[in-house]
Formats: sequence, C-alpha cells, structure tokens
Amino acid sequence: MMDPVGTEAVCYELLAEIGEGSYGKVYKAREVGGKQRLLAVKKINIRPDSPDAGIPAFMIREVALLLKMKFFNHPNVIKLLDACAVPEGRRMDLTLVLEYIDQDLSTFLSKAPPTGLSLDCIKSVMQQLLQGLDFLHTNMVLHRDLKPENILISSRGEVKLADFGLARIYTFNIALTPGVVTLWYRAPEVLLNCVYMSSVDVWSAGCIFAELFLLRPLFRGYTEIQQLQKIFEVIGFPCEEDWPKESPIPYQTHWGPATSCTNLLANLGPEENDLLAKCLAFRPSSRLSAAKALAHPFFTKQ
Ligand SMILES: Nc1ncnc2c1ncn2[C@@H]1O[C@H](COP(=O)(O)OP(=O)(O)O)[C@@H](O)[C@H]1O
Ligand SMILES: [Mg+2]
Repeated sequence: MMDPVGTEAVCYELLAEIGEGSYGKVYKAREVGGKQRLLAVKKINIRPDSPDAGIPAFMIREVALLLKMKFFNHPNVIKLLDACAVPEGRRMDLTLVLEYIDQDLSTFLSKAPPTGLSLDCIKSVMQQLLQGLDFLHTNMVLHRDLKPENILISSRGEVKLADFGLARIYTFNIALTPGVVTLWYRAPEVLLNCVYMSSVDVWSAGCIFAELFLLRPLFRGYTEIQQLQKIFEVIGFPCEEDWPKESPIPYQTHWGPATSCTNLLANLGPEENDLLAKCLAFRPSSRLSAAKALAHPFFTKQ
C-alpha cells in the first residue's frame, strides 16, 4: 500500500467489469463498510523495463499528485479515493479506486435526441469541462487524452474529467499495450511530433464542443496524416510561418494554399463559432487557455 498523503485504504467488493481500455480494466464495485458507496476500480498492469527496477520514481510522483488533487475536491474532476501499487513478480499492479459516475459522455451523446442537445445543455457541459481543465492546468496536470469516453456525466448533469494524469504512465507502458488509441481529439502539434503543453487539452475540448452540436466526432482520421488533412479541411491550411520549425514533418505546399477559416461549422451562432475557432487555433500559442475560454461571451453573455 502506497500512502503518500495519508489516505485511508478503501475496502470494496467487485460487482462487474464496466470497461476494458487499452491499459487495463475498470470494474464497478461497492464499498464494504463505511458508506457502501459505489466505486469504480481501475487496475493497470505495469511492466517495468528491468525486473528489479521497482516502481519508477515518476510513477510515484504522478500517483501522489493524483491523490493530492482529491483534497481540493474539485466538482469537475473525478475523485480518486485510494491508490495502491502491488508488485506481482516482474510486473506491478496499480489499482485506483474512484467515485462511481453513471455514464460517460460518449454514452450520453449516443442517447441524445436526434434533434440535438439544447444550447443550455451544451453550455453547461462545456463550462464544467473547461472548469475541470482549468483546475488540472493550474495544478500542472495535463490530461493529454481528453475525449468523450474519458469524461463522465452524472444523472444530475455533473461533468467530471476522468482518466487524467496517467498519460506518462501510459506512454511508458504503451509499447506493451496493444489497442488503438484514437487520434480524433489530438492537437496538430502532437500529430506533428512537437513539444506540447496544456493547449493540447484545449484543442480536444474544442473537438468535443463541436461534437456536442454535431453528435458525431468532428475530425475522424485513421492515420496521423489523414487526421491532419481532416483538420485542415475545416480550419484551413496554415501558412509556413505558423508551421512548427521543430517538426520532423516538413511544410507541404502541395497540401493546398494557406487559408484561414473562422466559420468552422454551419448553423452555429457567431459566439459559438468564435469560441470554437479560438479553441481550434492551429498555433498552440494562439489557442485560448481554459480560463480564458471560460470568460468568452458564449458563457458570460445572457
Ligand atoms: N469513475 C467511474 N465511474 C464510472 N465509470 C467509469 C469511471 N471511470 C471509468 N469509467 C468507465 O470505464 C471506461 C474506461 O475507464 P478509463 O479510466 O477511461 O480507462 P482507460 O485507460 O481504459 O481508458 C470509461 O470510458 C468509462 O466508461
Ligand atoms: Mg479512457
């Protein structure tokens, strides 16, 4: 039991498997004793490079950070109740115990009426999503894999970010874990193999904003190049000055002339389109921060 910040172990019984992601399994569970809360228990299998390396130091830091976040008790971030790492021979089993939330945003969207979500609903989901992101970014945590499956929504409409802060653990483990990781919410600088920061999450939030209107993903590419092409079809092709110098992928003039597009989606009001365009700016430095996005007239104007 790793207990870096004085949390108490939570006892539980597993009820059913609810998700099998690329990195491990998620179970629904019930707390034994105490409040008998419903829980989600996530088990991640880690195989360190060398058998006697033990738990990598960065992993201890990341888990400690996740546990620390729980004391802030942010309403839009899933609460981690317990974490423990148990060595299993050469492997390491990392178990995370989380509060249970009824459904994820992808299930929620699949149940939406064909006429679409109401503007109030879209506004509420987006605002809570950005509040959660702003909190993570203020605490130096990047999500890096924001997508509808990683956003939970309770029956009362509370939005909570899940599956965050594990990106480095995943990257470390990635060569060992088969399974497809979706490219659809990935920022261009990530697709172009550049250094990146919190603005990657704002890009994903922009993709999700569009999806709340469309009820389908905005950019559906199946290779990294195809993903970039889908992006450029909508936001326009960047000019050479905006192309990241450090990218191993050179600027391609045959992809089309530099264009810029501010009206990204048909049938959106001017405010929605403006917020979307500012979340989907090609240059990370031109993108809004989560905090600035929250101050956008889309949210503030009555
Ligand atoms: N706290 C939770 N409450 C309810 N369901 C959850 C919870 N956490 C995850 N899930 C469900 O399990 C799925 C996989 O969990 P996630 O943490 O995203 O793991 P993975 O790394 O496998 O993607 C989610 O898409 C969601 O449907
Ligand atoms: Mg996930």
